[in-house]
Amino acid sequence: VSGKVYIVGAGPGDPRLLTIRGLECLRLADVVVYDRLVDGAVLDQAPRAARRIFAGKEPEHHPLAQEAIHELLAEEAARGRTVVRLKGGDPFVFGRGGEEAEFLAARGIDFEIVPGVSSAIAVPGAAGIPLTHRRVSRAFAVVAGHTCSPDPEPDYPSLLRGAGTLVVLMGVRSLPRIVARLLEGGIDPATPAAVVENGTRPDQRTLVTTLAGLVAAAHDARAPAVIVVGEVVRLRERIRPLAAELAAIDAPSGG
Ligand SMILES: C[S@@+](CC[C@H](N)C(=O)[O-])C[C@H]1O[C@@H](n2cnc3c(N)ncnc32)[C@H](O)[C@@H]1O
Repeated sequence: VSGKVYIVGAGPGDPRLLTIRGLECLRLADVVVYDRLVDGAVLDQAPRAARRIFAGKEPEHHPLAQEAIHELLAEEAARGRTVVRLKGGDPFVFGRGGEEAEFLAARGIDFEIVPGVSSAIAVPGAAGIPLTHRRVSRAFAVVAGHTCSPDPEPDYPSLLRGAGTLVVLMGVRSLPRIVARLLEGGIDPATPAAVVENGTRPDQRTLVTTLAGLVAAAHDARAPAVIVVGEVVRLRERIRPLAAELAAIDAPSGG
Protein backbone atom coordinates (compact mmCIF):
# COMPACT_ATOMS: atom_id res chain seq x y z
CA VAL A 1 0.00 0.00 0.00
CA SER A 2 1.36 3.40 -0.81
CA GLY A 3 1.05 6.25 1.63
CA LYS A 4 -0.18 9.75 1.23
CA VAL A 5 1.15 13.26 1.64
CA TYR A 6 -0.97 15.92 3.33
CA ILE A 7 0.22 19.43 2.53
CA VAL A 8 -1.10 21.23 5.59
CA GLY A 9 -1.25 24.92 6.49
CA ALA A 10 -0.44 25.37 10.19
CA GLY A 11 -2.01 28.84 10.42
CA PRO A 12 -0.44 32.19 11.19
CA GLY A 13 1.09 31.65 14.64
CA ASP A 14 -1.39 30.93 17.43
CA PRO A 15 -1.51 27.09 17.39
CA ARG A 16 -5.29 27.21 17.94
CA LEU A 17 -5.70 28.64 14.45
CA LEU A 18 -4.78 25.27 12.91
CA THR A 19 -7.83 23.84 11.11
CA ILE A 20 -9.69 20.76 12.35
CA ARG A 21 -8.68 18.92 9.17
CA GLY A 22 -5.06 19.89 9.76
CA LEU A 23 -5.26 18.49 13.27
CA GLU A 24 -6.79 15.24 12.00
CA CYS A 25 -3.94 14.81 9.52
CA LEU A 26 -1.28 15.53 12.12
CA ARG A 27 -2.74 12.92 14.44
CA LEU A 28 -2.34 10.31 11.67
CA ALA A 29 1.20 11.25 10.74
CA ASP A 30 4.13 8.86 10.59
CA VAL A 31 6.41 11.63 9.35
CA VAL A 32 6.10 15.42 9.70
CA VAL A 33 8.25 17.64 7.50
CA TYR A 34 7.90 21.16 8.92
CA ASP A 35 9.01 24.70 8.20
CA ARG A 36 10.50 27.38 10.40
CA LEU A 37 7.38 29.34 11.31
CA VAL A 38 5.42 26.35 12.62
CA ASP A 39 4.63 26.59 16.35
CA GLY A 40 5.92 23.78 18.57
CA ALA A 41 2.42 23.27 19.99
CA VAL A 42 1.17 22.36 16.50
CA LEU A 43 4.00 19.91 16.01
CA ASP A 44 3.16 18.36 19.39
CA GLN A 45 -0.17 17.19 17.93
CA ALA A 46 1.61 14.53 15.88
CA PRO A 47 2.01 11.13 17.58
CA ARG A 48 5.03 10.94 19.83
CA ALA A 49 6.52 8.23 17.62
CA ALA A 50 6.21 10.28 14.42
CA ARG A 51 9.47 11.36 12.82
CA ARG A 52 9.87 15.12 12.76
CA ILE A 53 12.06 16.57 10.05
CA PHE A 54 12.94 20.26 9.94
CA ALA A 55 12.99 21.59 6.40
CA GLY A 56 14.00 25.11 7.40
CA LYS A 57 13.36 27.94 4.97
CA GLU A 58 14.97 31.17 5.78
CA PRO A 59 15.58 33.37 2.81
CA GLU A 60 19.21 32.23 2.50
CA HIS A 61 19.44 29.18 4.73
CA HIS A 62 17.81 26.01 3.57
CA PRO A 63 18.82 22.95 5.60
CA LEU A 64 17.06 20.96 2.89
CA ALA A 65 17.04 22.08 -0.73
CA GLN A 66 13.59 22.19 -2.32
CA GLU A 67 14.45 19.20 -4.53
CA ALA A 68 15.52 17.21 -1.46
CA ILE A 69 12.17 18.02 0.20
CA HIS A 70 10.35 16.77 -2.91
CA GLU A 71 12.28 13.51 -2.90
CA LEU A 72 11.81 13.03 0.83
CA LEU A 73 8.03 13.46 0.60
CA ALA A 74 7.82 11.10 -2.35
CA GLU A 75 10.05 8.42 -0.79
CA GLU A 76 8.26 8.38 2.54
CA ALA A 77 4.86 8.13 0.86
CA ALA A 78 6.13 5.40 -1.47
CA ARG A 79 7.11 3.42 1.63
CA GLY A 80 3.50 3.52 2.73
CA ARG A 81 3.83 6.27 5.29
CA THR A 82 1.41 9.03 6.11
CA VAL A 83 3.39 12.20 5.57
CA VAL A 84 2.37 15.66 6.76
CA ARG A 85 4.12 18.53 5.03
CA LEU A 86 3.47 21.30 7.53
CA LYS A 87 3.83 24.93 6.49
CA GLY A 88 3.15 28.25 8.19
CA GLY A 89 -0.09 30.02 7.22
CA ASP A 90 -1.57 28.62 4.00
CA PRO A 91 0.61 26.20 2.01
CA PHE A 92 -0.14 27.90 -1.32
CA VAL A 93 0.72 31.46 -0.25
CA PHE A 94 4.48 31.98 -0.70
CA GLY A 95 5.10 28.54 0.76
CA ARG A 96 6.16 26.59 -2.32
CA GLY A 97 3.31 24.19 -1.60
CA GLY A 98 2.34 24.48 -5.25
CA GLU A 99 5.73 23.19 -6.36
CA GLU A 100 5.51 20.26 -3.96
CA ALA A 101 2.01 19.37 -5.12
CA GLU A 102 3.14 19.55 -8.77
CA PHE A 103 6.01 17.21 -8.05
CA LEU A 104 3.83 14.68 -6.21
CA ALA A 105 1.20 14.79 -8.94
CA ALA A 106 3.86 14.16 -11.61
CA ARG A 107 5.12 11.16 -9.63
CA GLY A 108 1.61 9.80 -9.23
CA ILE A 109 1.75 10.06 -5.44
CA ASP A 110 -1.49 10.52 -3.56
CA PHE A 111 -1.77 13.85 -1.78
CA GLU A 112 -4.27 16.24 -0.25
CA ILE A 113 -4.10 19.98 0.21
CA VAL A 114 -5.28 21.19 3.61
CA PRO A 115 -5.59 24.98 3.41
CA GLY A 116 -4.49 27.09 6.35
CA VAL A 117 -5.27 30.53 7.74
CA SER A 118 -2.81 32.77 5.92
CA SER A 119 -0.85 35.39 7.81
CA ALA A 120 -1.49 37.73 4.87
CA ILE A 121 -5.10 38.13 6.01
CA ALA A 122 -5.09 36.91 9.60
CA VAL A 123 -2.20 38.97 10.93
CA PRO A 124 -3.59 42.37 9.91
CA GLY A 125 -7.00 41.14 11.11
CA ALA A 126 -5.70 40.16 14.54
CA ALA A 127 -4.22 43.65 14.83
CA GLY A 128 -7.59 45.26 14.03
CA ILE A 129 -6.87 46.08 10.37
CA PRO A 130 -9.51 44.81 7.93
CA LEU A 131 -8.06 44.43 4.42
CA THR A 132 -11.29 45.50 2.76
CA HIS A 133 -13.95 47.86 4.05
CA ARG A 134 -16.90 49.48 2.35
CA ARG A 135 -16.02 52.90 0.98
CA VAL A 136 -12.35 52.46 1.98
CA SER A 137 -10.89 49.59 -0.06
CA ARG A 138 -12.56 47.03 -2.29
CA ALA A 139 -9.50 44.91 -2.99
CA PHE A 140 -6.10 43.99 -1.66
CA ALA A 141 -2.86 42.87 -3.22
CA VAL A 142 -0.47 40.53 -1.42
CA VAL A 143 3.17 40.55 -2.48
CA ALA A 144 6.46 39.11 -1.29
CA GLY A 145 9.06 41.75 -0.46
CA HIS A 146 11.81 39.21 -0.84
CA THR A 147 12.13 36.04 -2.86
CA CYS A 148 14.94 33.82 -4.00
CA SER A 149 13.41 33.76 -7.47
CA PRO A 150 14.76 35.77 -10.39
CA ASP A 151 11.29 37.24 -11.10
CA PRO A 152 11.25 41.00 -11.63
CA GLU A 153 10.34 43.14 -8.63
CA PRO A 154 6.61 43.76 -8.27
CA ASP A 155 5.32 47.18 -9.34
CA TYR A 156 4.33 48.24 -5.82
CA PRO A 157 2.80 51.65 -6.72
CA SER A 158 0.52 50.12 -9.38
CA LEU A 159 -0.53 47.32 -7.06
CA LEU A 160 -1.42 49.78 -4.31
CA ARG A 161 -3.27 52.10 -6.71
CA GLY A 162 -5.18 49.25 -8.29
CA ALA A 163 -6.13 47.42 -5.12
CA GLY A 164 -6.39 50.11 -2.46
CA THR A 165 -4.61 47.95 0.13
CA LEU A 166 -1.10 46.55 -0.23
CA VAL A 167 0.03 43.68 2.00
CA VAL A 168 3.72 42.80 1.98
CA LEU A 169 5.06 39.53 3.38
CA MET A 170 8.78 38.90 3.91
CA GLY A 171 9.28 42.64 3.61
CA VAL A 172 11.17 43.68 6.74
CA ARG A 173 14.64 43.65 5.23
CA SER A 174 13.55 45.21 1.96
CA LEU A 175 11.35 47.83 3.61
CA PRO A 176 13.52 50.88 2.76
CA ARG A 177 13.55 49.85 -0.91
CA ILE A 178 9.82 49.13 -1.03
CA VAL A 179 8.96 52.46 0.61
CA ALA A 180 11.31 54.29 -1.79
CA ARG A 181 9.62 52.63 -4.78
CA LEU A 182 6.15 53.62 -3.52
CA LEU A 183 7.20 57.25 -2.95
CA GLU A 184 8.99 57.45 -6.33
CA GLY A 185 5.83 56.05 -7.88
CA GLY A 186 3.86 59.02 -6.59
CA ILE A 187 2.08 57.44 -3.62
CA ASP A 188 1.10 60.06 -1.02
CA PRO A 189 3.66 60.01 1.83
CA ALA A 190 0.74 60.53 4.27
CA THR A 191 -0.84 57.17 3.30
CA PRO A 192 -1.40 55.17 6.51
CA ALA A 193 0.87 52.16 7.00
CA ALA A 194 1.41 49.49 9.64
CA VAL A 195 3.82 46.73 10.56
CA VAL A 196 2.49 43.77 12.56
CA GLU A 197 5.16 41.56 14.07
CA ASN A 198 4.52 38.07 15.46
CA GLY A 199 0.84 38.29 14.62
CA THR A 200 -1.59 36.13 16.66
CA ARG A 201 1.24 35.21 19.03
CA PRO A 202 1.56 36.41 22.63
CA ASP A 203 4.27 38.86 21.56
CA GLN A 204 2.24 40.41 18.72
CA ARG A 205 3.30 44.02 18.18
CA THR A 206 1.72 46.59 15.89
CA LEU A 207 3.31 49.83 14.70
CA VAL A 208 1.02 52.33 12.99
CA THR A 209 2.50 55.19 11.01
CA THR A 210 2.45 56.71 7.52
CA LEU A 211 4.32 55.70 4.39
CA ALA A 212 6.79 58.53 5.03
CA GLY A 213 7.35 57.35 8.61
CA LEU A 214 7.40 53.63 7.92
CA VAL A 215 11.14 53.00 7.69
CA ALA A 216 11.88 54.93 10.89
CA ALA A 217 8.97 53.36 12.78
CA ALA A 218 10.02 49.88 11.75
CA HIS A 219 13.74 50.31 12.42
CA ASP A 220 13.77 47.55 15.04
CA ALA A 221 11.07 45.36 13.44
CA ARG A 222 11.93 41.70 13.09
CA ALA A 223 10.54 38.92 10.92
CA PRO A 224 7.99 37.48 10.87
CA ALA A 225 6.07 40.65 10.12
CA VAL A 226 3.30 41.72 7.77
CA ILE A 227 3.32 45.25 6.35
CA VAL A 228 0.06 46.91 5.34
CA VAL A 229 -0.19 50.14 3.33
CA GLY A 230 -3.50 51.84 2.62
CA GLU A 231 -6.41 53.76 4.10
CA VAL A 232 -7.76 50.64 5.86
CA VAL A 233 -4.95 51.04 8.42
CA ARG A 234 -6.86 54.04 9.84
CA LEU A 235 -9.75 51.77 10.81
CA ARG A 236 -7.61 50.21 13.52
CA GLU A 237 -8.25 53.25 15.71
CA ARG A 238 -11.90 52.21 15.91
CA ILE A 239 -11.50 48.45 15.75
CA ARG A 240 -8.52 47.86 17.99
CA PRO A 241 -10.17 48.28 21.42
CA LEU A 242 -12.56 45.43 20.64
CA ALA A 243 -9.76 43.27 19.20
CA ALA A 244 -7.76 43.82 22.40
CA GLU A 245 -10.76 42.93 24.58
CA LEU A 246 -11.42 39.73 22.67
CA ALA A 247 -7.80 38.73 23.02
CA ALA A 248 -7.99 39.38 26.76
CA ILE A 249 -10.76 36.78 27.17
CA ASP A 250 -8.29 34.08 26.37
CA ALA A 251 -4.55 34.39 25.67
CA PRO A 252 -2.68 35.27 23.48
CA SER A 253 -2.83 38.91 24.47
CA GLY A 254 -0.99 41.85 22.96
CA GLY A 255 -1.55 44.74 20.66
C1 LIG B 1 7.53 32.32 3.50
S1 LIG B 1 6.17 33.37 3.89
C2 LIG B 1 4.94 32.14 4.19
C3 LIG B 1 3.55 32.68 4.31
C4 LIG B 1 2.53 31.62 4.73
N1 LIG B 1 2.42 30.57 3.76
C5 LIG B 1 1.16 32.23 5.02
O1 LIG B 1 0.20 31.98 4.30
O2 LIG B 1 1.07 32.95 6.03
C6 LIG B 1 6.62 33.93 5.51
C7 LIG B 1 6.13 35.34 5.80
O3 LIG B 1 4.78 35.31 6.27
C8 LIG B 1 4.59 36.37 7.20
N2 LIG B 1 4.20 35.80 8.49
C9 LIG B 1 4.02 34.49 8.78
N3 LIG B 1 3.61 34.33 10.06
C10 LIG B 1 3.55 35.58 10.59
C11 LIG B 1 3.18 36.09 11.88
N4 LIG B 1 2.79 35.29 12.89
N5 LIG B 1 3.23 37.42 12.07
C12 LIG B 1 3.60 38.25 11.09
N6 LIG B 1 3.95 37.82 9.86
C13 LIG B 1 3.92 36.51 9.60
C14 LIG B 1 5.89 37.14 7.28
O4 LIG B 1 5.84 38.18 6.33
C15 LIG B 1 6.88 36.07 6.88
O5 LIG B 1 8.07 36.65 6.40
